[in-house]
Amino acid sequence: MIPEKKRFAVFCSGQGSNFKALRSGFISEQLPAEIVLCISNRSKSGAMFFAKEHGIAAVHLSEKQFQSFELFVEELLSTLKRYKIDYILLAGYLKKIPPKVVQAYAGKILNIHPALLPKFGGDGMYGLNVHQAVIDAKEKESGATVHFVDEEYDRGKIVLQKKVPVLETDTPEILAERVLRVEHKIYTKAVQKLLGWNQSGV
Ligand code: GRF
Repeated sequence: MIPEKKRFAVFCSGQGSNFKALRSGFISEQLPAEIVLCISNRSKSGAMFFAKEHGIAAVHLSEKQFQSFELFVEELLSTLKRYKIDYILLAGYLKKIPPKVVQAYAGKILNIHPALLPKFGGDGMYGLNVHQAVIDAKEKESGATVHFVDEEYDRGKIVLQKKVPVLETDTPEILAERVLRVEHKIYTKAVQKLLGWNQSGV
């Protein structure tokens, strides 16, 4: 009997290049999983366009559409339920995941961060800020980290990490590109690991 595919939602705010890489990775690695939903706080993000073009449900959800944060969280949870979501992947999502969602999906939310956590994570460490901080600290290596999401920014258990060199001539933009190429490779691998762990009951 072919096992039912696990249903994934991706949360994005931007261009969604990790989302695109994940979608290709799920297919090429024949994961027992599919991305069925993209949630974005930005209606016109590249990720939303990509989802629509590829027949993936694209839902724009932002706190600003609701009278209270609680109502926003309720809608978020009921959307995840409506699409029967098993796992959530954050791929360039710039908002904090509400505690109620973290609790409902404990151990089932991953994030990708463009540095070697626990260094260069936390509040304000997003986009080019991260790479600028790495260069300012004169690090010789940076990289990408996939980790579980808990109630604190960038602090959950690490699933996978891959390093890249930092060159003396690097600008934040150049380093970001080098790291992003690695991100695209490791996110699918981390999902594979996650599913493997769950299948073996770990
Ligand atoms: C990536 O660098 C990711 O690590 C970070 O946000 C960026 C998103 O890029 N969380 P993209 O939208 O996937 O291209």
